Amino acid sequence: MKTYLVGGAVRDELLGLPVKDRDWVVTGATPEEMLLRGFKQVGADFPVFLHPDTREEYALARTERKQGRGYHGFTVYSAPDVPLEEDLKRRDLTINAMAKSVDGELIDPFGGRKDIQSRRLHHVSEAFAEDPLRILRTARFAARLQPMGFAVAESTMTLMKQMVDDGEIDDLVPERVWQEIQRALHENEPGTFFEVLRDCGALANIIPELGEDEAFAAAVRALRCVHDSHGETPARFAALMSPLSPTDARNRASRLKAPNDCQDLARLTTSLMPQIRAMSSFQPDALLRLLDEADVWRRVDRFSGLLLTLGCALPDTEHEKLGWLESAQRAAIGVEAKELMAQGFRGKELGQAIHRERLQRISTCHKTQ
Ligand code: CTP
Repeated sequence: MKTYLVGGAVRDELLGLPVKDRDWVVTGATPEEMLLRGFKQVGADFPVFLHPDTREEYALARTERKQGRGYHGFTVYSAPDVPLEEDLKRRDLTINAMAKSVDGELIDPFGGRKDIQSRRLHHVSEAFAEDPLRILRTARFAARLQPMGFAVAESTMTLMKQMVDDGEIDDLVPERVWQEIQRALHENEPGTFFEVLRDCGALANIIPELGEDEAFAAAVRALRCVHDSHGETPARFAALMSPLSPTDARNRASRLKAPNDCQDLARLTTSLMPQIRAMSSFQPDALLRLLDEADVWRRVDRFSGLLLTLGCALPDTEHEKLGWLESAQRAAIGVEAKELMAQGFRGKELGQAIHRERLQRISTCHKTQ
């Protein structure tokens, strides 16, 4: 029996990134032997075990064969004689298809290290096309590693386009699509995820409303603007949806089976976007009313800040006019209830004091513009 570190941990180590989860592959063992050694079996379909002490995952080397369409059509074959290379061969990208033996030797049959050096996201084999989820995963790795200079290899992009043309992507269940979108919203460059999907044609399937250039550019800009200030999934999803009409946003969020908090915030945000777009002509008290309306929303921290960030993400021409909003936003959300409580305000009076203080700060910002 031999064990190897595989997948993300090997990749991240070579990239000099922190390693989060460590997954292992075991060759030369049967499920019975693993149980005898104290491992606990998890998942009925795959021969995967948890280490009794570290709780890390140990999977018996396996091969996969595609039988039907979509994500579900796989049969798994595992036996003590399945070689490590076979297990690596069924993986998506070369950078994910490397292993390291316990004595530190790198096993890299598909050139993963070379692709790390040349910053290429490249498929391991044509079997990539058997799993449409890999289109979304590749786009997500592009979103994560783009700041390090990575891009999808041309031949992989061609393969992904082919998969989209063949209709493979139609078979993905919304839950899996949502899971990848949700993860992508938290990668380094979420916009890159949607760019890759647009370039291979998958976006027309997943969020067709962003197909038009202007809407797409607005979504990418909004995602970039909220990136540093809003870490919650609903806020990021609302930024993605912000160029859409409230009806389109509602229908798309529901078809994607986004969680309720994401659906609600996307709906509320898109319904307020017309006011945000018209904000350049707003007076401070109108802005404050909008903030108050937005403050009704309690589930996402600083929703008012989100709206104003989205206002600032509007195209350059409008951005000029909205310049003062950026400082107004900072000033308005900077009002600390704690400080006003220290001055003795409580209950309804506290609410009024916050309101007054915000209005005053917003007016000051407006006047100094
Ligand atoms: N994998 C695959 N096709 C999929 C899902 C997973 O080929 N549809 C492979 C990849 O090679 C990946 C491994 O299974 O390296 C483990 O998948 P996962 O834990 O989801 O990904 P990680 O590479 O560990 O990435 P992350 O850093 O996002 O956890």
